[in-house]
Amino acid sequence: MKLQATTAQNSYRYIWLLKRIFPYIKPVMFRIILGFLIAAPIGLLDGVTAFALKPYMDYVIGKHDLLFGGFTISYQMMAFAIPYLIVLFAAGQGILNYFNEYLTSWTSQKITIAVKEDLFKRLVYMDSSFYDENTSGIVIARFISDPDLASRGIIDKIKDIITSVCGALGLIAVMLYSSWRLALIGVLVLGVAFLPVALIRNWIKKTSNKNIVIGGKITTNLNETYNGNKIVSSYNLQDRQLGIFKEELKQSFDVNIALVKRAGWMTPIMYTIASVGIAIVLAYGTNLIYTGKMTAGGFASFVTSLLLLYKPTKTLGRALQQLQDLFVAMGRVFELFDYKPEISNCENPVKMPPVNNGIKFEHVDFEYVKDVPVLNDINLDIKKGETLAIVGNSGGGKSTIANLIPRFYDIKSGSLKIDDIDIRTIDITDLRNNIAMVFQDNFLFSGTIRENIMLGNKNATEEELQTAIHSAHLDEMIAELPNGIDTTLTERGVTLSGGQRQRVAIARAIIKNAPIVILDEATSALDNESEAIVQLALDNLIKDKTVILIAHRFTTIKNANRIAVINEGKIVELGTHEELMNIPEGEYKHLYEMQFRESNENNTEEGKNE
Ligand SMILES: Nc1ncnc2c1ncn2[C@@H]1O[C@H](COP(=O)(O)OP(=O)(O)O)[C@@H](O)[C@H]1O
Ligand SMILES: [Mg+2]
Repeated sequence: MKLQATTAQNSYRYIWLLKRIFPYIKPVMFRIILGFLIAAPIGLLDGVTAFALKPYMDYVIGKHDLLFGGFTISYQMMAFAIPYLIVLFAAGQGILNYFNEYLTSWTSQKITIAVKEDLFKRLVYMDSSFYDENTSGIVIARFISDPDLASRGIIDKIKDIITSVCGALGLIAVMLYSSWRLALIGVLVLGVAFLPVALIRNWIKKTSNKNIVIGGKITTNLNETYNGNKIVSSYNLQDRQLGIFKEELKQSFDVNIALVKRAGWMTPIMYTIASVGIAIVLAYGTNLIYTGKMTAGGFASFVTSLLLLYKPTKTLGRALQQLQDLFVAMGRVFELFDYKPEISNCENPVKMPPVNNGIKFEHVDFEYVKDVPVLNDINLDIKKGETLAIVGNSGGGKSTIANLIPRFYDIKSGSLKIDDIDIRTIDITDLRNNIAMVFQDNFLFSGTIRENIMLGNKNATEEELQTAIHSAHLDEMIAELPNGIDTTLTERGVTLSGGQRQRVAIARAIIKNAPIVILDEATSALDNESEAIVQLALDNLIKDKTVILIAHRFTTIKNANRIAVINEGKIVELGTHEELMNIPEGEYKHLYEMQFRESNENNTEEGKNE
C-alpha cells in the first residue's frame, strides 16, 4: 500500500470516523463529559461582565435605587457589590478553566497513547513491501504526528466548540435582553464579516495539504542525511543535501507566503465590516436612547457584549476548521488500522514442522512489481542437514529466493513447502522462530552487546549466552571492551568493526538455535582477515542445520553439499562442485575460473611488491 501524505480514503466520512475513535474515547468518557459540563459555564460567564454593566450604569451612575419585589437595594450598595461580583465570577471562571484544562489534557493524552500504541502494533507487523513502497518521512508523519493531531485534537476542539457556543449564546442573550433590534443588526453584521472565510476555505485546505507533503519530504531528507552520512561525507554531498533541503524550505516558504497573500486580507476585511457594524449600532443605539427605548446602561452592556462576541465567534470558526483537519488526520490513522498486510497468518495456521524432509521449491514464480518477473520456475529441494549454496550474478534473484522462505514476500505461483507443508499455512511467528538469518549488513539495536545477542532468544541461559559468544569467536573482543558484554553500542552499532558486528549478529543467530539457517552474503563485506574468523563463527552456526548459503567467494561455496547457479531469475545449473566444474563451458566453471584468475593475479602482484 502506497500511503498518500495528505488525505486518506475515509477522511470525509465523519460519522464513520467517530465510530472508529469511539472505543478509545469510551474508557475515559466520564471525565470527558465532566470536562464538557465545565466548559459550558466557562463560556456563559463571559456574558456576566457585560451584563453587570447595565445595572452599574443605570443605577449606580444614574444614582437610582433598585426596587426589587418589596426590597430596596441602594445604589451605594450596588456600587460596592458589582465590582466584587465581577471579580468573583472571573475567579470562578478561572478555577473552572483550570479543572477543564486538566480534564481535557488528561483524557486526550490517554486517547492519544492508546491510539499510538495500537498504531505501532500495526507498524511492527507491516510486511516488507510496505517498507519498500513508503518513504520514512511519510511513515514518521503517519505514525507520530497524525495520531497526535487526531486524538489530542478531538477533545480539545469539541471543548472549544462548547465553550465558544455557550459564550456566544450568553453574549447574544445579553444583547437580546438589552435590545433585540440592535442584536439583530449586530449578529447580521458579524455573519457578513465571517463570509470571506467560507469563500476561500477549500483553497486554504489545498494549500495546507501542500505543506504536509513538503513536511514529509523534509523528514525523508533528514533521515537520508543521517543514514547516509558516510556517503554524504565521502562523495562530498553536503552541498547536494543542503541544496535539497533549501529547495524544500523554499517551497514551504512559498506555500506559506501564498497563504498569507491570499488569506491575509481576510482579517482586515473582517475588522472593517465589523467596524461598519459598530458604527451602525452606535448611530441606531443613540437613536434608541434618545427616543427612550433603551437605557444608557443597556447600551453599554450591549456594546460590550458585541465586542466580546468576537472572541468566541473566532474560536468557533477556527475550531470547526481544525476539526475538519483532524478528521482528515483521523482518516489517515484509521487507514493504517485497516491495512491488512499481504503477509499474515492464514486461518487455523499449523505449527512449524521439524524440518525432517527439508525445504522444497516447486515451479516457483515471483515478482515484486506486477508483471516484472523476478523468479521463474524455481525448483529446489533442500534436504535436512544439507548446505545449499546459491551463486550467480548480482540481481539474479538470490536474495529474493532467501526472502521467500521466512515469508518476507509470498510467492506468486508454484509452491514452497517445508516438510511438504505449504509455508503459507504455517504460523508466521513459529516459522520465523525456526529460521536464523545473517545478512551482509546486520542491524544492531541501541543497547548493550548482551541485549543484542539475547534478541536471538530471550529465554537463553547465561551458559547458552557464553557458548554463543564463544562459538561466534567474540570472547577476545569482549574481553578487551571496558564493560565487556555490557558495553553499550550506539544506535547503529558503528562503534564495532564490520567483522565484529558480523560476529555479534552471528552470536544472535547461534543463540536462536534454529533448524534453518540462511546466510545472504554474510562475509561479502569483509576483508580476508575478518572473513577468516567470521567464517569460523559461521561454521559453528550452520553445524547440523539446513542451510541456504548465498556467497560469492568460492572458498566458502566449495564446501556446500550442492550448488545452484541462478541467472536472471532461473536456475541454470545445479549440482556438487565437482559436477558443475565438469560441465564444459558451464556458468559455474566460468565464475569459478574468473575469481580464481583474479585472486592469482592479486597474489602475483603482491609478490612483485615485496
Ligand atoms: N524490494 C524490491 N522491490 C522491487 N524489486 C526488487 C526488490 N528487491 C529486489 N528487486 C529486484 O529483483 C531482482 C533480484 O534481486 P535480488 O534477489 O536482490 O538479486 P541478488 O540477491 O541475486 O543480487 C533485481 O532485478 C532487483 O532489482
Ligand atoms: Mg542479494
